[in-house]
Amino acid sequence: MRVAELIVKKREGLALNSQEIEYLVHGYTQGEIPDYQMSALLMAVFFRGMTEEETAALTLSMATSGETADLSALPGLAVDKHSTGGVADTTTLALAPWAASCGVTVAKMSGRGLGHTGGTIDKLESIPGFRTSLTQAEFIKQVREINIAVAGQSGSLAPADQKLYALRDVTGTVESIPLIASSIMSKKIAAGAGAIVLDVKTGSGAFMKNPEEARKLARAMVAIGKNSGRRTVAVVSDMNEPLGSAIGNALEVEEAIQVLRGETKGRLLQLCLSLGAQMLILAGKAADTVQAEALLQDALHSGRALQKMAEFISAQGGDPAVLENTALLPRAAFNREITAPFDGYFFIKDTQALGYAAMLLGAGRERKDSVIDLAVGLKLGKRNGAAVKSGEPLLTVYYNREERLPEAVKILEQAIAVVPVKPADHPLVYEIIA
Ligand code: URA
Ligand code: CA
Repeated sequence: MRVAELIVKKREGLALNSQEIEYLVHGYTQGEIPDYQMSALLMAVFFRGMTEEETAALTLSMATSGETADLSALPGLAVDKHSTGGVADTTTLALAPWAASCGVTVAKMSGRGLGHTGGTIDKLESIPGFRTSLTQAEFIKQVREINIAVAGQSGSLAPADQKLYALRDVTGTVESIPLIASSIMSKKIAAGAGAIVLDVKTGSGAFMKNPEEARKLARAMVAIGKNSGRRTVAVVSDMNEPLGSAIGNALEVEEAIQVLRGETKGRLLQLCLSLGAQMLILAGKAADTVQAEALLQDALHSGRALQKMAEFISAQGGDPAVLENTALLPRAAFNREITAPFDGYFFIKDTQALGYAAMLLGAGRERKDSVIDLAVGLKLGKRNGAAVKSGEPLLTVYYNREERLPEAVKILEQAIAVVPVKPADHPLVYEIIA
């Protein structure tokens, strides 16, 4: 096979077969195909697109380009849940134990990654004593015993994706649906997911600003699932406003605990129920969403979901007393309130900027080697559209490093406002694609 011929084939809009795709992915990962040829190929894919079969072949080649998690020793099908990235989105932290308490096998290998807060692994590490490095044997044993384990991934999952993503980032080829879909799904498949629930976010605070594009991405990922033998469901959900009220690592753990204690209402709880229902259906624990939501409600109100969180924390060396006393989580040394300048309605103008401000405070990684401060972040006092009185707190900034405060506050003051007319409500779930 000659790489130049494969580039021409794609440039002319023809489909590559799975051997050709494997040859390209393998050759590039091994350093045998240079960046300039792969760049040309990616640009051809950007303009010509890929068929469902090509996209599935690309996903599988990337998924098997390095180590893969072997979860075949587990009794049930591991159901993974993934969000394309939202602000104040603690659904994974709450749903992992909640779904496990309903009999779903939750065996999650997770990375740290970049973003406005840390990944699930970083957040869990804010629980005193919690260990996220488990051996493969410990991981399997724990899932067999209590239905749930969450561990940091050891080696590099899907190294082809890491290398290709870095190249796409500098060649104008990130915004391609088959490339995004295969990138996300390759990591899920490499991590051993047997079935996958995807939360595809759309809106001003999301990667996909427009619902039509988000639907296309969701359909592409569901098709990959179908073509690679992993049942996949995508929920297209709103990210024009933060989902919950906490942005930050320990702050989000605290909010997840509030969900499991049954103290949360509104959009965060609603989306947990929608996503959780799909997890139960894929695991064969419920026949439809009505039955699944009833099972989830029962697990929540009986305290079984919270009890599962306690077992999960104890099994990984953490102190389950945090469930009663969230003051045991790391706390920032200082806080600053931003209050309403006059009466009106709270309006979140720029959700993405809230995430960016949290990252500036140290809640997330700007670069791979950035060090996260688990205690810092933001807490919204009101939800978008709420009536507020002059002087009422809108948002609290939790910080440790004084020098980082002014820029964060400047961004926040631009991102939120009090307005005279109640801003429009956004729908929460646009579509469920199965
Ligand atoms: N997230 C990913 O993991 N990959 C992409 O290509 C885009 C977003
Ligand atoms: Ca391979």
